[in-house]
Amino acid sequence: MIAKTEEDFNGLKEIGKIVASIRDELVQRTIPGITTKELDDIARELLEKADAVSAPKGEYDFPGYTCISVNEEVAHGIPGHRIIHEGDLVNIDVSGSKNGYFADTGISFVVGEGEEVLTKICDVAKKAFEAGLKKAKPGSKKSGIGKVVFQTARENGLTVIKNLTGHGIGRTIHEAPDHIYNYNDTSDDELLKEGMVIAFEPFISTFEEEVSQKEDGWTYVTEKSFVAQYEHTIILTKAGPIITTL
Ligand code: CO
Ligand code: CO
Repeated sequence: MIAKTEEDFNGLKEIGKIVASIRDELVQRTIPGITTKELDDIARELLEKADAVSAPKGEYDFPGYTCISVNEEVAHGIPGHRIIHEGDLVNIDVSGSKNGYFADTGISFVVGEGEEVLTKICDVAKKAFEAGLKKAKPGSKKSGIGKVVFQTARENGLTVIKNLTGHGIGRTIHEAPDHIYNYNDTSDDELLKEGMVIAFEPFISTFEEEVSQKEDGWTYVTEKSFVAQYEHTIILTKAGPIITTL
């Protein structure tokens, strides 16, 4: 959407704050021995308490309130009986709506002590986000964001996932612009607009550049790579981007 009114800004910020606090709570509660379903149950309660609706459940009938992906799972992991272990790479992605406004945020992290490369991809995903954020200006090319995401990955001896992208958001979970790529798509000449709301989510990979979908119809996985994502919902303004999900 294009945020225009005071009501738009306030509505986007309100749901942004809700999903951000649920994300942070789930990260805190991710300890060895807990299952992804137990984490999702916490999210369900917190969403209810905040009078907010899970976006994946509400919009897509996803079998969970949040997406929780572990190790080989990259995105849209279904909460279930999977037990979290020390050293696991976990991604928690929380998106929801309230009063018709949406926000989407996610983070990858390592549980306790883990392999160095896992910490590295998480750090680089955040760096890529910060680099892209500087390019997220009204009037600039949308592809400029992906360009610096890819550059950041390469500078660190890593690469990106090319078939998962950021997206427009606001009045629903996925809307125009359909894709914020993790690389410079030279055919993409769309310009960013004042008030445009996007979910920007770099996916940084150890070497594979594509994910495939599991037979469950939801979960995206890699074969041999590890992937980290870092996502926030942003309103683009001339005065600088407003992150609704800090
Ligand atoms: Co997300
Ligand atoms: Co998203």
